[in-house]
Amino acid sequence: MKSYGAALADARAVLARAGIESAALDARLLLAAASGLEMAALVARERDELPELAAREFGAHLERRRRGEPVARILGEKEFWGLKFRLNAATLIPRPETETVVAAVLAEAGRLPARPVICDLGTGCGAILIALLRELPGATGIAVDISGEALEVARDNAKRLGVEGRIGFRQAGFSEAPHEAFDVMVSNPPYIRADAIASLAPEVREHDPRLALDGGADGLAAYRAILDGVGALLKPGGFAAFEIGLGQAGRIAELCRNAGLGEVDFVSDLAGIERVVTARMPGLPERAPLKKSLGKVA
Ligand SMILES: C[S@@+](CC[C@H](N)C(=O)[O-])C[C@H]1O[C@@H](n2cnc3c(N)ncnc32)[C@H](O)[C@@H]1O
Repeated sequence: MKSYGAALADARAVLARAGIESAALDARLLLAAASGLEMAALVARERDELPELAAREFGAHLERRRRGEPVARILGEKEFWGLKFRLNAATLIPRPETETVVAAVLAEAGRLPARPVICDLGTGCGAILIALLRELPGATGIAVDISGEALEVARDNAKRLGVEGRIGFRQAGFSEAPHEAFDVMVSNPPYIRADAIASLAPEVREHDPRLALDGGADGLAAYRAILDGVGALLKPGGFAAFEIGLGQAGRIAELCRNAGLGEVDFVSDLAGIERVVTARMPGLPERAPLKKSLGKVA
């Protein structure tokens, strides 16, 4: 039997040998999960013996990580906006940069009605919409995804995070969006060019669902489908926030303008990359300039 400290040191070495950059953090995350402890509590247990059951689970999870499976897939959950979201094989692992979409909507909160109705297209595990509902207690929303399996986990997350009374779920494609008009539309659609998927990191390529990645020949197919129907989806003055991929800002801004949206703007993520395009359906008076970075809007 090994101590917690020895198990951790061995695991770190195994992951580092496999070329995993985040070896130390990943080993701690997996050990904490296997032993049912918070990460901070591991230090106090350093010399204690790791119970056999925990050691066995830790070993199995470590082997999956060594073979390249992301920690969030192994544990079946990921933190987003300070909340824990469950995942399944049909959901993308929510990324920290997607928090920029949440921040961009919250920066507009002063211009939203007291009880805004929000639509999240391609909701996955529900991360964006559920985070918004937690921040905006008067808001309600509809989570849309073509994957019924993703919606199942989104429904479970809504329940566990206490917003199930303010959220509805719809299994539909981007071009069959709900017919009611919304105050806010958010989306992090698939935006990787189909021919670029093969060159993504194996952790993404082999473990995120293709449906969540594949943006068609030029990466913009989902934006076109969504923006085709945006006139029916957003109320006059309604606000839209799209996550975008690297270098897509100009082309998506143009698609927004062609769809009749105005006030097109960009919000950068914490790495300084233009990550979100925002736009507004005409119908409200001009607003003050949008704050530009996540740091300022948070
Ligand atoms: C990039 S993932 C984003 C998931 C989640 N919103 C997030 O930010 O973590 C894109 C989502 O769009 C969904 N999707 C893909 N094609 C779709 C389509 N044609 N209509 C509706 N949803 C689609 C996928 O199932 C996936 O959940």
